[in-house]
Parts: sequence; C-alpha cells; structure tokens
Amino acid sequence: MVFEEQGTDERTVIEKLNLFLEEDTTYFSGHPIASMSTTPHRLGAKVFCRTMERSAARLHTVKGSVRVEQEVIEIVADLMNLKEPYGTTSSGGTESNILAMLAMRETRKKIRKPEIIVPKTIHSSIDKAAWILGIKLIKTGIDRQYKASTRQIEKRITKNVVGIIATAGTTYLGQIDPIDEIGKIADEKNIPLHVDAAFGGFVIPFLNDLGLGNHSFDFKVNGVTSISIDPHKMGLAPIPAGCLVFRSKRDLNAITSKTLYLPGASSRQSSILGTRPAASILAAWAIMNHLGRSGYREIVAGCMERTRLAKGRVEGNPVLELVIDPVMNILAIKSREVPLKAIVAEMETRGWRMATSPLPPSLRLVIMPHVTTGALNAFFNDLNQVSTTIPAD
Ligand SMILES: Cc1ncc(COP(=O)(O)O)c(C=O)c1O
Repeated sequence: MVFEEQGTDERTVIEKLNLFLEEDTTYFSGHPIASMSTTPHRLGAKVFCRTMERSAARLHTVKGSVRVEQEVIEIVADLMNLKEPYGTTSSGGTESNILAMLAMRETRKKIRKPEIIVPKTIHSSIDKAAWILGIKLIKTGIDRQYKASTRQIEKRITKNVVGIIATAGTTYLGQIDPIDEIGKIADEKNIPLHVDAAFGGFVIPFLNDLGLGNHSFDFKVNGVTSISIDPHKMGLAPIPAGCLVFRSKRDLNAITSKTLYLPGASSRQSSILGTRPAASILAAWAIMNHLGRSGYREIVAGCMERTRLAKGRVEGNPVLELVIDPVMNILAIKSREVPLKAIVAEMETRGWRMATSPLPPSLRLVIMPHVTTGALNAFFNDLNQVSTTIPAD
C-alpha cells in the first residue's frame, strides 16, 4: 500500500473500506462470545458521534467536558461507596492499573526497589505496568476457588512492598478476591490496596442488589485505596472509557504531571495519554445518567439469567465441566477429554470468536448483553456437536 498522490472519491473509498470491515466480527452477530466489551448503548453512540473532536487533554478549551469528566468520576465513585473521590478517567483498565501502580511507587519513593504483591490471577495489564514502571511483582497463590490467599499475601509483605493488588471480577473466571480480608491487612500494615474492578465494578454492586451475592469489594472496605472500573465493559460505553478512583488526593497528585506549553488547567494532566478522546467519557456520562442504577441492575439480571442458561448447557454436556460455579457473567469450561485447542479451532471455523484461559486451561465465555439467548443456544448447539465428535487426545 502506498500513500497515493491523488485522492479517491468518497464512494470508492467507502466501498473499499467495507471490504475490510466485512471481515470483522460484530457484536450484533453474537459471535464474540468472550469479549468484555459490547455494543455501546445507543445514547452513548449518539453522544460519541456528536463530540468526536473534543480532546480531554485540552482542559482549558473544553471546560464543560471537564465538568462532565468530574461528574463521571463522582458517579462511579458513588457506585463504589466513596463520597469524596479523587480520580481520573482513562482509556481503560490497563491505563488505570498502570496509574494506580505509579501512585503506589511515587508515594513511597524512599523504597528503592519497589515490589507489589499480586495474586497470580491478576490481569496481564498489571504485568505490563510492572514492566513499564520497573516494579517487581510478588505473585501469590490462590485457593481451590481461584481466590487470592490472604495468608500468602500477608507472608510476603516486606519493607520493599509499596502496594497490594486484588481483583473483583477476574478476567479468567469472574472470581472475586477476599477484598475485606486483604483490606484488613493492608490497613494494619499501612500499605495501599488497589482493587482491579475493571470488569466487576459495573456488575458486583448489582449482583448484591439482586440478592445474587453479598460481596465487599469497594471503598466500604477500609484498606482499599484505589479502584479501577471500566465504563467500556459492563458500563456499555463506547471504547475507550476507563476510570480510576482514589480515596486520597495525595495519590491523584502523585500521578499528575505538568505539560508546560499548555495553559491553565491543561498544564496538569493525570493520564498517561496526552491527546485523548473526551467523547467516550461524555458518552459514559450520558448512559449512566440515562440508565441509572435500575437500568444497570436490569442488564446485569439479564446477563445472569443467560449465564444460568449457559451453566445448564455445560452441565448437560458429557465431556465438559465448569471450573467454578459462575460468580458473575463469566464462565470457564474445562474439557474432560477433547483438547481445548481442537475445540477452539473448530468453533472458530463456525464463526465463533473464542478465548481460552491458562489458569486453569479452559474455554472462557463472557455473557455480555450482545450474547443473547438465541446466540447462546446456537453456540451450545455447535459446542455440543464439536466437543462430542472430535476424537479425544
Ligand atoms: C480485570 C481486568 N483488568 C484490566 C483489564 C484491562 O482492560 P483494558 O483492556 O480496557 O485496558 C481487563 C480486560 O479484560 C480485565 O479483565
């Protein structure tokens, strides 16, 4: 491909582009069966298109958008049971986790060889962050339900530890670490505790409301100092929309840097990115205002109903089994006989967009709003056929 001297007419360009786009799998098809994002809510899509040119880095020129960003942080913090939040929006869970770890390192600068304790089920963005920030990760074990072992975390605390991270809604299984127990230790030892609720943040509060759980994972737990929560996952916002909320202003200050050539408020930025879209944040604000807690509760209830359907279908299959009873709208499926690789390869040829988890080796399903009952039934009809016809290893 070369950069042509002369341009092409719009129609031809769109026709050419459509040829590429036809190769993409859309959420509308129901085929992305392991995605943590979904079709954005239509109001969010509308707001996104209207505000595409706004840069959230140009704080002095988009004063209204800045106020909306602050409201997004406040609404999300309220969901996480914090009344006076300090935070920033971000491009998603990865950026939020990097920033949370940066805050841990920067507020304990005297520690020359910083270490962070993480259960081995953390999301890979935390490995990436450790790599970027020069932090050593101390990986600790998990129990039979794949939850962090609090005892192991406690045992690994040394003078070099600048923080602990736990997950509320693990990527592989949707499991929730014992945040209240870990929080107690973090509080006692005065070590920051970051909760990665990038996925679970928009699910767990509603599970609790629906009587489908009773999980303490947010700022109600004393030791929790920061939380990542992504509107672009179960918040139904367009990509990229993440949120990082701190309990203390000191942490926000620790991730704030100066951009000297920008005037006023723009000179102080708390993000990794410079120029970044405000549109998805404005869209998240619109969706959260429009749906309210009751709207999200209804969406989570629907996802959980379909998760039960999926669970029943796995239980009805002679060669498949669930790794744990699903805690949220994520299922991990083990195969007793047929190699997972072979199942995935065949399911992919049938159009399904699959994912596997390494811990333990399993197929991973995320029952997002686009995974309708019809899509799920079609998926399990295929999966039953594939898993019972491929020869065992
Ligand atoms: C628990 C958790 N944290 C962080 C992330 C990273 O989020 P993003 O891909 O939006 O950067 C994910 C992504 O799936 C996740 O599941």
